[in-house]
Order: sequence, then C-alpha cells, then structure tokens
Amino acid sequence: MRNADGLLALLTDRIDAELIERSPRLRAIANYAVGVDNIDLDAARRRGIPVGNTPDVLTEATADLAFALLLAAARRLPEAIADVEAGEWRTWEPGRWLGAEVHGAAIGIIGYGRIGRAVAERARGFAMRVLHTGPDGVPLERLLAEADFVTLHCPLTPETRHLINASALSLMKRSAILINTARGPIVDQRALVEALREGRIAGAALDVTDPEPPAPGDPLLDAPNLLVTPHIGSATRAARERMAQLAVENLLAALDGQPMPHQVV
Ligand code: GLV
Ligand code: GLV
Repeated sequence: MRNADGLLALLTDRIDAELIERSPRLRAIANYAVGVDNIDLDAARRRGIPVGNTPDVLTEATADLAFALLLAAARRLPEAIADVEAGEWRTWEPGRWLGAEVHGAAIGIIGYGRIGRAVAERARGFAMRVLHTGPDGVPLERLLAEADFVTLHCPLTPETRHLINASALSLMKRSAILINTARGPIVDQRALVEALREGRIAGAALDVTDPEPPAPGDPLLDAPNLLVTPHIGSATRAARERMAQLAVENLLAALDGQPMPHQVV
C-alpha cells in the first residue's frame, strides 16, 4: 500500500486505521461487497478518501439464498440428503424427517432495507405473515416473540453487534428458526450454540459466522439443528460479475477525481 493510489478490497481484507495511515498515496477504496464493516470508515473520512460499495446488484441473489436456507432448515434438507447418501432411505416413513410448514408461517425480518424487502416479497409468495423492524414495522421484542422464522438483513455496526444475544434468543419461540445471511457478529454465537444445544430454538441456518471460517473444533460446528454455508449470499455468476463491474467503476471514478457511483463515505 505504500505506493498504491487505489485499493480494491475484498470483505475479508481488514482496512483499518493503521493500514490507511500507512498508505500515503491512497485516494480511493472500492469494496467488492455491499457491507463495509471491514473498513474503518472514520479513518477514511479523516483522510478524505472515498469508500465505495456494491449495492443493488446482489440484493436478489442474497434474498434467494436467505430463502433457500429458510426452506432447507424448515424441511431438514441437509439431514435428509445425508441420510440418503448413507443408505438410510429404506422406505416411505410417516413420522421421519418431519419439519416445519413454511406456507402461512410468520417471518420476522430484522433490517428492512434492500435485501430485507426482497425477502419479504418472496415470503408473501409463500403466504407468510411478514413482520419487520424499522419505522413502519414492529418492535424487535414483538418480532422475536411472534416469528416462526427470524432472518437478519441489517449491516454490522456497533449497534447491531450481538443484537441476537441470549436475551433475544430467549424471546424466540422454541419452534423458531434463525437465518443469518448478513454478518456473523450480529449473532452472539456462544449464546446461539447454547440455545441450540438446549433446544430453546428449533434451528439455525447461517451463511455467515464469527469468525469466518469457524476454527477447527469451534463448538458451533457440533451444534444440533444447525446448517452452515460458506458466505455465498452473492455467489451467482451474474451478481459477482456485476459486483466486479461496480467496484471497478467506483475505483476508476475516484481516481479520476469524480464521485463514485456508489459511495458510502
Ligand atoms: C457480502 O457479504 C457483501 O457484503 O457483499
Ligand atoms: C406423497 O407423496 C403423497 O402422495 O401424499
């Protein structure tokens, strides 16, 4: 970074104040992600370095994945698939592999921005009752108490870190399933593991964890009724191509002295 004018960063790159201070020529930071929690925005602001992200182009892909996780967790797909692979499918069994109904259930959407709204659209197609946070939504406590599926779509900020902690989990129904396609640290993972072990909620489906990936031996990996995917919310060919395009457009605009098409700072 000593000689770089611009930086195209992945969400796994931590762009902290120290790195920014040690980059004397830096004039542009383009994140290849919509979330910018990996970047010290205050440090960038202090130096007057614009920071860009990639909104919109991954909204539908991420909402699709949230719904895929919701359906997979509700209908216990990973377990059912593993049983078929293990030769456990012997006959049609009335009482085996039973899951939860999605149609008509209540979904609680925490973070009602672009992605949260796109999830709501899918949920309405399943005749779900949609509860969401925000000015025209319901209080978080009520959402947690009433939802059969709680899905996270807020950014990671100091306010949302460990938003889903032991007390939030204790408000959820025992039959409820938590879905996280946002950022791992929004969930207090130790509290989640405990809640799953004690059966205080029915399950969780996480596309993001804290840290990523979980270290070998992390208790998360042994928790029951848990499904984990490797941060693939935006992983469609089309979304990743458009993200790359946007990130490069942001970078080139700032290097050219123009405002970035999608500038957060
Ligand atoms: C992915 O997590 C993103 O923020 O784009
Ligand atoms: C299931 O396959 C049914 O026919 O009910």
